[in-house]
Amino acid sequence: MINRIKNAFENIAVWFLPSKYANLLLCRRRGRWSNYFISAESAMEEQWRTIIWPLIKDFSFDAVLELAPGAGRNTRKLCSVAKRVLAVDLNEYALRQCRRQLGDSVSGCRIEYHRNNGRDLRMIEAGAISAVYSWDSAVHFDKEVMEHYIAEFARVLRPGGKGFVHHANLGDQAHKNIKRNPHARSNMSKELFARYCRDNDLVVIDQIDMPWGEIVDCITLFAKHGKIDA
Ligand SMILES: C[S@@+](CC[C@H](N)C(=O)[O-])C[C@H]1O[C@@H](n2cnc3c(N)ncnc32)[C@H](O)[C@@H]1O
Repeated sequence: MINRIKNAFENIAVWFLPSKYANLLLCRRRGRWSNYFISAESAMEEQWRTIIWPLIKDFSFDAVLELAPGAGRNTRKLCSVAKRVLAVDLNEYALRQCRRQLGDSVSGCRIEYHRNNGRDLRMIEAGAISAVYSWDSAVHFDKEVMEHYIAEFARVLRPGGKGFVHHANLGDQAHKNIKRNPHARSNMSKELFARYCRDNDLVVIDQIDMPWGEIVDCITLFAKHGKIDA
């Protein structure tokens, strides 16, 4: 009953809020991703081996920012190659689950957990990160949220650092209530991602179509100018 009332309130609020705030409200809802955390776990091994690793294998994994790790299925894989992972998520319950599963280190890789406000990375110093990583999370972020984050990627990446972000490509076809879109995808597009990178002096290395059921998402690979000190 309480959930039904909360849902109805959320649907009304989303109708009136500007798109960015509607998106944050929907993504912040306690328990929203809990079922996903269980159901997605089993797909990780194959996604990592066949899609993700071939695209990121030349990254420097010295200090990895994982944006929106959820319960940590990607974090575990990142720890098999990284020295340090900074796991940043909007939801405390997600981070709690991630920490419960992985603790403060896995295979010698240190994990730091940070809850944020859903749009900036103020807890990370400029130039501290060698790789940015986000899989199956930014697909839900509103275009304005993504614009904030891309400016932050440019700030926190070291010169020569690289990024891998899986994001939506529905663009203007998307409803601002992500619950009404296939797989809760947002209004982000590959063209916007490339534009936000350009605006922040990041270089787009490649944009790859990523079929997802009846839709096609995008993976954007990008880099900050310069050479990395490994
Ligand atoms: C579908 S889950 C995916 C988690 C993980 N990437 C995975 O593949 O298992 C989406 C995650 O994004 C987080 N999230 C949603 N909007 C966010 C935002 N604006 N900033 C940071 N995290 C966000 C949620 O809390 C949740 O943990």
